[in-house]
Amino acid sequence: MTDSSRRSFLAAAAAVPFTAPLATPLVAAPRGAPRKRKILVLGGTAFLGPHFVRAAQQSGHEVTLFNRGKTNPGLFKDLEQLRGDREKGDLESLKGRTFDAVVDTSGYVPAHVEATAKLLADKAAHYQFISTISVYGSFGERPDTINEATPVSVVKDEDVAKVNTIRQSMPFYGPMKARCEAAAEAAMPGRVSNVRPGLIVGPLDTSDRFTWWPVRCDRGGAVLAPGDRDGHVQFVDARDLAAFMLRCVEEQIAGVYNVTGFHGRVSMQEVLGACKCATSSSVELVWAPEEFLAEHKVQPYMQMPLWIPRDGRSVVDCSAAIGKGLRFRPIADTVRDTLQWAKAERGDKSFARTGLPAEREAELVRLVKALASK
Ligand SMILES: NC(=O)c1ccc[n+]([C@@H]2O[C@H](COP(=O)([O-])OP(=O)(O)OC[C@H]3O[C@@H](n4cnc5c(N)ncnc54)[C@H](OP(=O)(O)O)[C@@H]3O)[C@@H](O)[C@H]2O)c1
Repeated sequence: MTDSSRRSFLAAAAAVPFTAPLATPLVAAPRGAPRKRKILVLGGTAFLGPHFVRAAQQSGHEVTLFNRGKTNPGLFKDLEQLRGDREKGDLESLKGRTFDAVVDTSGYVPAHVEATAKLLADKAAHYQFISTISVYGSFGERPDTINEATPVSVVKDEDVAKVNTIRQSMPFYGPMKARCEAAAEAAMPGRVSNVRPGLIVGPLDTSDRFTWWPVRCDRGGAVLAPGDRDGHVQFVDARDLAAFMLRCVEEQIAGVYNVTGFHGRVSMQEVLGACKCATSSSVELVWAPEEFLAEHKVQPYMQMPLWIPRDGRSVVDCSAAIGKGLRFRPIADTVRDTLQWAKAERGDKSFARTGLPAEREAELVRLVKALASK
């Protein structure tokens, strides 16, 4: 896969004793119930953030949000909201505050993560940084297995020094996230969970990189399906990721964890089968060989969501996170909830960013069928 096409779909402890006091005293919680925590979320109002916040609230934790108040400002009116702007270095509202854990879903720039992790190092027991599997330069390049020991991409110091906004960080997304991880770990050694998700899917996901399939199948008719049916796909439901994040926070689990499903391989056919079963529309899956798609210049991942050609289809090993409690809901649940949300909240917008225009898809379906009948 070329660098630019890869970028298009990637747009992936040392035990040091901790002496800072916990924000919440260590009083015994009822048996089986996690102790109530004071959790600061840096961000919290777009996609992953709300799923994490709801999971934390449901478990009885006290959540404070820190953001600019621009994204979904009406959300979480019942929570304490601290205002500030990481891009302007405005962290005033965080000063003097104490938390059990910080969850950083909005860090893309190493200097921003360094600033918040240093500021809160003596004020919080645990820092969780949401990174990405895009830290691995080999992801999407080779059909290798990637685990947490696989080397991460590097970016030059001079490029890091030039970047101060999220937008500026995007051309170096993966390596900048790797530097953010390192900045958090340097500020709070042994007290950081660096969580590396793959494609995050489910309700509230406006990227349509998964949503396309349930919505397209619901529209019915002949659906162009990519490549080999048995080819594996990986993604994680935002709610399963949020549950794992919360577990790390509650149990102060430090370390680096890949988080993208599932345990064992899940094929494209299994995912599209679930989409077909989630709708009352009549759906015919028309499988186009990879060579056909390449010949007709169908772009992997954005025009054929979830599809990565065989020669670049890496396998991301998530066994470390599974060992610490990561669990996956059935694909059918993810598909059903995503479809329900997309129909209620997005309407035709689910076709705006990904997939093929209807006429082009119909033309390719006709060609695939003609080839098959020869
Ligand atoms: N989507 C995927 O498939 C995927 C895959 C792998 C990893 N990830 C990672 O997962 C995370 C998910 O992000 P999300 O957007 O869903 O998180 P989120 O916490 O739901 O939303 C982002 C938050 O950041 C805040 N924010 C943005 N700019 C800010 C600034 N300059 N200062 C302070 N706050 C700011 C936004 O609020 P305001 O705008 O109001 O400030 C918003 O609350 C990201 O770190 C991403 O790299 C995503």
